Amino acid sequence: MNWDPDIYMKFAGERTRPAIELLARVPLGMPSRVIDLGCGPGNSTASLAARWPNAALEGLESSPEMLAKARASALRATWVQGDVQSWAPDIQYDVVFSNAVFQWISDHRALLPQLMSHVAEGGALAFQVPRNFDSPSHALMREVANASPWAEKLAGARQRHVLSPEAYFDVLAPRSASLDIWETTYLQVLEGDDPVLAWVSGTGLRPFLQPLGEKERETFIAQYRARLREAYPRRADGKTLFPFQRLFVVAIR
Ligand SMILES: C[S@@+](CC[C@H](N)C(=O)[O-])C[C@H]1O[C@@H](n2cnc3c(N)ncnc32)[C@H](O)[C@@H]1O
Repeated sequence: MNWDPDIYMKFAGERTRPAIELLARVPLGMPSRVIDLGCGPGNSTASLAARWPNAALEGLESSPEMLAKARASALRATWVQGDVQSWAPDIQYDVVFSNAVFQWISDHRALLPQLMSHVAEGGALAFQVPRNFDSPSHALMREVANASPWAEKLAGARQRHVLSPEAYFDVLAPRSASLDIWETTYLQVLEGDDPVLAWVSGTGLRPFLQPLGEKERETFIAQYRARLREAYPRRADGKTLFPFQRLFVVAIR
């Protein structure tokens, strides 16, 4: 699935803020080896570099477009093209960090123990995932897809992979010396025309549009846009409020 780093980074501030807030809760002074899984264009990696300038820092990313953007940044990091699911390093890491990535990966009950096995003793696995699968922005995508003539084509477009906070506790508590799990709902204040559509165009909408031809895409977007305008009306001051729930986990091995 293709990613467009420029569309993604239209909301760079809102998308990077959770990475900064996750990082603030990682209680490690001077880790030697740090990796950013699903580093995207390098925005989350930049926060890691600023916090730990002396660490050996890596960014792992499956999208060539995103990785090219990261490589073009001035960041001093090792950039690796690869898949989180098959990541199997020979060495252990002090910090395995991931912001807004695992929602794209299935079977977290298998993934997380596997990732914890790559964390050094006393090190941290820290990740953030959106937990907005049932919010109107995502429910309406599925509603349009299910009611469309291409319902079959779009059947697998998006699966629910993110678990509840309690389920993450159950998976990680037996493997952690300490565990910190919390949720936040950001009341995001967006500007401009159809800003929620612009937001999801950089992320969750892509799997619904990529299987469609050009005309089909136009129809899909027109129907989805009309529903979004009702769910997220533009206020008298021109702003649109877009509440966004996210879940954070910091597990110390
Ligand atoms: C929403 S972006 C997050 C980018 C960045 N970490 C940030 O904080 O904004 C998700 C990124 O995860 C990458 N990704 C998704 N699944 C992946 C996988 N299985 N392995 C490696 N990267 C993956 C995507 O290519 C994309 O760049």
